[in-house]
Amino acid sequence: MDDKNKVPYVVSSKSYTAVAINAAAKAGEWIKSRLGTVKELNTKYSAQDLVTEVDKGAEQMIRKLILTHFPDHAILGEEGVEPGPKASAQALEETLKEEYVWIVDPVDGTTNYVHGFPFYSISIALAHKGEIIVGVIYDPSRDELFVAEKGKGAYVHGKPTVVSGEVTLETSLIATGFPADQTFALPINMAGLQHLAPQVRNIRSGGSAALHMAYVAAGRLTGFWEIGLNAWDLAAGALLVTESGGTVSDTTGRPYELSVRHIVASNGAIHSQLVNALQIADATGYDSH
Ligand code: IPD
Ligand code: CA
Ligand code: CA
Repeated sequence: MDDKNKVPYVVSSKSYTAVAINAAAKAGEWIKSRLGTVKELNTKYSAQDLVTEVDKGAEQMIRKLILTHFPDHAILGEEGVEPGPKASAQALEETLKEEYVWIVDPVDGTTNYVHGFPFYSISIALAHKGEIIVGVIYDPSRDELFVAEKGKGAYVHGKPTVVSGEVTLETSLIATGFPADQTFALPINMAGLQHLAPQVRNIRSGGSAALHMAYVAAGRLTGFWEIGLNAWDLAAGALLVTESGGTVSDTTGRPYELSVRHIVASNGAIHSQLVNALQIADATGYDSH
């Protein structure tokens, strides 16, 4: 047998970021082309937790593209993991044993996608030894591509992203989500919402955690919080926010790491005010005792 048949073909000239961008853009284009054609609408962890054949197809496409270039890298994709917080935590722990891990949400905002509400995204991050080094979020509806590289800044279509300048909650535009987990996450999030709404300029809930994070990075939102998210909702966005000058932590203010599920991301200036408000409302998702 000829030697070249033994070794898998690897395109070595492509950078991690270029591959992430290519995968997000290709998947995004395909997802958008399938808008309004969803045939298999199924539920996962709860009646509100939706999945379609488009989520699965997009994840397959992204996996293939990544593995063509980096066959020895691990991939943590939402659709490859059993639903629920326990299975996610286990899958994350397991994959993080690998040196390079790609963390993929093929469609963040599936509910929006199913309804034709144009606010959904593809989120792809690359972690090296647990540290996020690349983050890409693509919004096919607006053709907006957010890219961050560790230590090199963050960009939307080549223009640097910078967090906003508000210094008080009063002047802040804050986003949150209504988690599909109605037993644990939703009631806690509602407590935070009830407490924060009268203190801020206003609250938005677009329905894609990844895009909310990208919008914090781009200074379109002052901050974002949500209870009960997963690494694939947050990893790329977390790098975007920090590389744009913002702060990302859990809801008690501890620095973000991939296992964090209760998130606060902000422009930095209002971070402690947001964290304090959630603490006062007993809405951090962590035991206060
Ligand atoms: C959901 C979105 C939504 C958030 C949910 C997530 P999915 O992700 O990010 O904004 O509120 O908690 O599960 O299921 O559309 O990938
Ligand atoms: Ca998601
Ligand atoms: Ca998803």
